[in-house]
Amino acid sequence: MSDNLRPLLAGNWKMNGRLADLAEIDAIRSRVAAGAAGQAQVVVCPPFTLLTEAARRCGGSPVGLGAQDCSTAPCGAYTGDISAEMLKDAGASFVIVGHSERRAGHGESDALVRAKAAAGLRAGLNVILCLGETQAQRSAGEALATVAAQLEASLPEEAAPERLVIAYEPVWAIGTGITPTPTDIAEMHGFLRRRLAERRAGGERIRILYGGSVKPANAADLLNGADVNGALVGGASLKAEEFMAIAAVYR
Ligand code: PGA
Repeated sequence: MSDNLRPLLAGNWKMNGRLADLAEIDAIRSRVAAGAAGQAQVVVCPPFTLLTEAARRCGGSPVGLGAQDCSTAPCGAYTGDISAEMLKDAGASFVIVGHSERRAGHGESDALVRAKAAAGLRAGLNVILCLGETQAQRSAGEALATVAAQLEASLPEEAAPERLVIAYEPVWAIGTGITPTPTDIAEMHGFLRRRLAERRAGGERIRILYGGSVKPANAADLLNGADVNGALVGGASLKAEEFMAIAAVYR
């Protein structure tokens, strides 16, 4: 909530959600249309299976849809994969790449993440690029160096600043209920802001989200600092009521 950048509140549903849960997206849509998120941009990233129907229901509303991953290829013989072009066709306007659950659980390297980010941009999607250190890296005093190396190696070339979003998600804060202090967040976000500004023209306009155990009770503490331009919310985005209680920070 700073820098005159429009905050982005993105919900990452991960591998959760069946057709019946589209009722939550309906509720998010009505609440956002009624002003529940103030000036913030709200995006929900459901699993692939719900994307088309969610996008149909949110058409013409202020709520955008995103996906959680994409292939690097536009189409072809890649069994089980989904391309960024298909996501766009299904109604997505965003794609998350490089989430730590994909980096760790699917062995995604920085180079692959960069190629996925480039694929998202190629297809006309906005890209949310996730970065974050593990607990061991933080304990060893390597948090900034780890995140800097990930940024260096996974940031796509030639992205318009408005179409690229960075999500700082310390791995140890994801789904654990443990969060960094506002001071830790300020240090990392300030560091990322300086790096982005040095690294490319318009880098000061790239939004930097915080993610990891954001809840209604801690949202004001975690999201109000300088260079925190929104949040990537996992568990607390599954229920409209909780997600919109977080959005209240932006009213
Ligand atoms: P969490 O997940 O809010 O459930 O910690 C955040 C994320 O993984 O994007």
